[in-house]
Amino acid sequence: MEYLVKSGSPEKQRVGCVVVGIFDRRKPSTQAEALDDASEGVIASVMRRGDMDGKLGQTTLLHGLDELFCDRILLVGCGKERDFNVRAYRKACTAAAKALDSMGGVDAAFYLTELNVKGRDDFGWSVKQALLSVEDVFYRFEVCRGADYERHTRKLSRLIFQVPRRSDLPAAERGVDEGVATANGVKLAKDLGNMPGNICTPTYLAEQAVALSERHSSVKTNVLEEADMEALGMGALLGVSRGSRQPAKLIVMEYMAGAKNAKPIVLVGKGVTFDAGGISLKPGAAMDEMKYDMGGAASVFGAVQAAAELGLPINVVGVIPSTENLPDGDAYKPGDILTSMSGQTIEVLNTDAEGRLALADALTYVERNYEPDAVVDMATLTGACVVALGSHAAGLFSNNSPLRRSLRDAGEAVGDRAWPMPLWEDYQSQLDSNFADMANIGGKGAGAVTAASFLHRFARKLRWAHLDIAGVAWNSGKDKGATGRPVGLLVQYLVDRAQQA
Ligand code: BES
Ligand code: MN
Ligand code: ZN
Repeated sequence: MEYLVKSGSPEKQRVGCVVVGIFDRRKPSTQAEALDDASEGVIASVMRRGDMDGKLGQTTLLHGLDELFCDRILLVGCGKERDFNVRAYRKACTAAAKALDSMGGVDAAFYLTELNVKGRDDFGWSVKQALLSVEDVFYRFEVCRGADYERHTRKLSRLIFQVPRRSDLPAAERGVDEGVATANGVKLAKDLGNMPGNICTPTYLAEQAVALSERHSSVKTNVLEEADMEALGMGALLGVSRGSRQPAKLIVMEYMAGAKNAKPIVLVGKGVTFDAGGISLKPGAAMDEMKYDMGGAASVFGAVQAAAELGLPINVVGVIPSTENLPDGDAYKPGDILTSMSGQTIEVLNTDAEGRLALADALTYVERNYEPDAVVDMATLTGACVVALGSHAAGLFSNNSPLRRSLRDAGEAVGDRAWPMPLWEDYQSQLDSNFADMANIGGKGAGAVTAASFLHRFARKLRWAHLDIAGVAWNSGKDKGATGRPVGLLVQYLVDRAQQA
């Protein structure tokens, strides 16, 4: 898809489709009014016949517009004008995108970007949000289909985001640039998350990291093998990996486009390419979905790629501990005690709490090898986080208030929310073990918090945040599949950091 930004009146557009908003109670937006005036009232007559009331998310496609230069008009319901906020804007954009996905025209001029969104006065933001909504709707995962599968084809190949004034164009251009880089990162994360576990193994992820550094010379990839991890004493990560015939990998991607002495932002992603639970085997229902247990890793790929695509003048390091978690005669067992790279020992009380083990060694690796400005880990860590927050917000834990705030704000700005959860020392005693420095589970209650508290023991010296993305990285049900979250949040955070630098 080609994305352009322009400024100009809707009635003058020579395109396949002009997309304009209608507010509730049949109130045309300024742009719809301009089309109506130029066409002897086509829009008013459609509304009079009851085909468009302006309800949020409603769409109607009009044809045969002799008085106008465009072939079609897409009317998009925007809800009540005084309630037209960020959420309503995104809903309207998504509805418009769904209609455009199956429309016949090759190009469209998109005017929802000209609407005033409550609490926002930046057309760069509007353009970026619209672009992200459109790309989200247009996404398909078709690489695993057979030759006879009828692949989705879309006529639309050029979308023009309209802004009111020529002076708005630079902001809108920036919106397109950031939007495209973010959307590409989201797409990469979705593709990786949707890829089945028999293809997407730790080795596959390592290959994808190499491929990323081949696409972007600014990214350098280094992959640590099991022997390297052995030498570093990564007993926690290697403990998880014992049950798997696929070798574990520790993938490191460096994007160092900032000042030489600038401390890097390190992104750590849980890369469990399939989580059967190990000897503490999971129940069978929906176990297939545990192929997305590398969603954290996928978001690191997306964010690093976006940073490279935007050429952000910052240093970013991506670290991915990757393994499978499977039962096997040689698998680690409940009661086993693992010695982590940090030297702290861990009694395994449940082999299904494997993500924190893999991340523990990754965090120590980061602490020893970098002097990070901030470390953010992303992990599909606990079902308890899904219970707490559902699919609307990731759980956000941090030992640093400014970092917590920046991440929360970044997520809010792009509609990829994370919500603060506590990391109080009170929870630490839930991890006490009779035999080792700690247990890997915290018993009944506050499962997401105890998992984060476990990680905290390996991040004490770091300015660190943890995003539990178990609820947001995946859609269950009919629209089952990876969401690409929290790439949007991460890219916004990196862009914000680059602006400060
Ligand atoms: N990958 C899972 C967490 C998960 C569950 C992600 C559901 C997405 C949806 C993680 O490895 C896990 O199994 N966690 C256990 C922890 C428990 C054993 C303390 C869980 O949440 O049940
Ligand atoms: Mn597990
Ligand atoms: Zn897991």
